[in-house]
Amino acid sequence: MRANEKWRAEGVAAAAAQFKEEVTILDAAALKRSPWAQLRGLDDLIDGLGRASAAAQGLKAAVTTLSHLRAGDQRLYVYTTVEPDGSRAPIGLLKVGPKTLYHWDATGNHRCLPNQLCVLDFYVAERAQRQGVGARLFAAFLAAESAAAAAVAYDRPSPKLLAFLRKHYGLARYTPQRNNYVIYEEFFGGAKCGAKNGDALARRPLTSRGVH
Ligand code: COA
Repeated sequence: MRANEKWRAEGVAAAAAQFKEEVTILDAAALKRSPWAQLRGLDDLIDGLGRASAAAQGLKAAVTTLSHLRAGDQRLYVYTTVEPDGSRAPIGLLKVGPKTLYHWDATGNHRCLPNQLCVLDFYVAERAQRQGVGARLFAAFLAAESAAAAAVAYDRPSPKLLAFLRKHYGLARYTPQRNNYVIYEEFFGGAKCGAKNGDALARRPLTSRGVH
């Protein structure tokens, strides 16, 4: 290994060691604080996960980069496992954030959903997939944001994510949109078309919307 590569690998290992919890939440504010602010390997670590996610989804460019996270209002949930040698390995990411969306239902009615909570990127390393890691990461996100899976919009969900949501949350029915976001029918349960408070609705837990 060349000196430069060794230096970078050491930086990534040092950054990984800082992920002490099973799920860590990073956002612009956290990245300005210790220990994340001065961690030289953090960009390589997160950008590497972002590239792996893009490759798994067949995307040309990564959706998740640390520089983008530093500049915006998105949250990155990082899942970390402990390797047999005791080292920590961040192996999963879930990026979420607000977007203004327009949604058309099957009858042609549309509504604006300002500040809609969206899943923007979701990835678990291939070696750990289908072992419940994604479910734990996703549940941590819902708990931290007091959200329900049906109250979230999904940006271009892959077939794996559609299967994941069907399996863990029973979500299956939606009207395909031109913007490729998926919003499940349960999102609108009881709300009239044209409702103006789509953002507030999305942020409320399902129990407060009368869904149990
Ligand atoms: N094919 C079909 N469904 C799959 C799948 C695959 N290769 N991998 C996961 N799933 C779905 C299935 O419903 C599966 O249940 P099953 O094994 O009983 O069929 C369920 O997810 C497993 O749940 P869990 O183990 O908690 O999820 P995970 O750790 O595998 O994480 C993803 C789920 C989607 C994050 C993960 O599969 C992944 O990173 N996929 C590649 C990237 C991707 O497609 N991301 C979605 C962004 S739009």
